[in-house]
Amino acid sequence: MSPASASALSLSGLTKAFGGLRALDDVSLEIQPGERRAIIGPNGAGKTTLFSLVSGEQAPTGGRIALFGRDITRLAPHRRAALGLARTYQITNLFPRLTVLDNCLLAVQALSPVKLHLHRPLGRYRALFDRAEALLESVGLLAKRAAPVRDLSHGEQRQLEIALALAGTPRLLLLDEPTAGLALAESQMMVALLKGLDPAITILIIEHDMAVAFELTDRVTVLHYGRVVADGSARDVRADPLVQEIYLGAMGTA
Ligand SMILES: Nc1ncnc2c1ncn2[C@@H]1O[C@H](COP(=O)(O)OP(=O)(O)OP(=O)(O)O)[C@@H](O)[C@H]1O
Ligand SMILES: [Mg+2]
Repeated sequence: MSPASASALSLSGLTKAFGGLRALDDVSLEIQPGERRAIIGPNGAGKTTLFSLVSGEQAPTGGRIALFGRDITRLAPHRRAALGLARTYQITNLFPRLTVLDNCLLAVQALSPVKLHLHRPLGRYRALFDRAEALLESVGLLAKRAAPVRDLSHGEQRQLEIALALAGTPRLLLLDEPTAGLALAESQMMVALLKGLDPAITILIIEHDMAVAFELTDRVTVLHYGRVVADGSARDVRADPLVQEIYLGAMGTA
């Protein structure tokens, strides 16, 4: 298949076993370039594991992963990043004592051929600063650039994580529960931010909030015990009796 006509992400028979537990069990998926796809499913369904296999932080037990037509199954995480893959995490992983701008600069320079050397005049790094500030502006955090990250609200920290994920101008962005733990207003701000991202970026988003998942994406894949149990339009998935059972069952005990 030529890269021009390839899926953004293609998973075939992807499996991850932890001892006797199959956290991911023979998952096959095709995500088209520019698509926005939600991955939903109850706790422990294998959603984060799926992201860790795609980003290369964990090695699959079986199956294959292709990114824009290229097999990346055995590629190191930084090589996948260089091919246009970025992810955010379910739990914040920022440097809390550094400023917003410094966190952003670290992400920008990590992916740039120009490296920061603290003994050189900062003027040399104008391009890195400009890029970092543009990223902060795009997520609405430019005014907070001098604040230590620990002084930001939880919602602002999650917005900053989006900026860091965008630092490498990704073609495929994996977002692991970007609205987790956010108050309603913060969650709405995050949804607006994600809706405003470049439509050329392919986005895979793990989301517990079905309303958010359906607002951000056209198509939803449901994982349950490591397997794909439903896959289709938001309307079809919502009407699927198995999905209703899984969700009503899970929510009934929540
Ligand atoms: N490193 C690991 N070692 C052993 N078991 C693991 C490991 N990582 C995940 N698991 C198990 O694999 C299963 C899937 O976990 P995963 O974190 O992918 O679920 P999830 O769908 O992201 O859940 P949540 O909605 O709670 O974030 C769970 O049963 C989990 O306990
Ligand atoms: Mg998870």
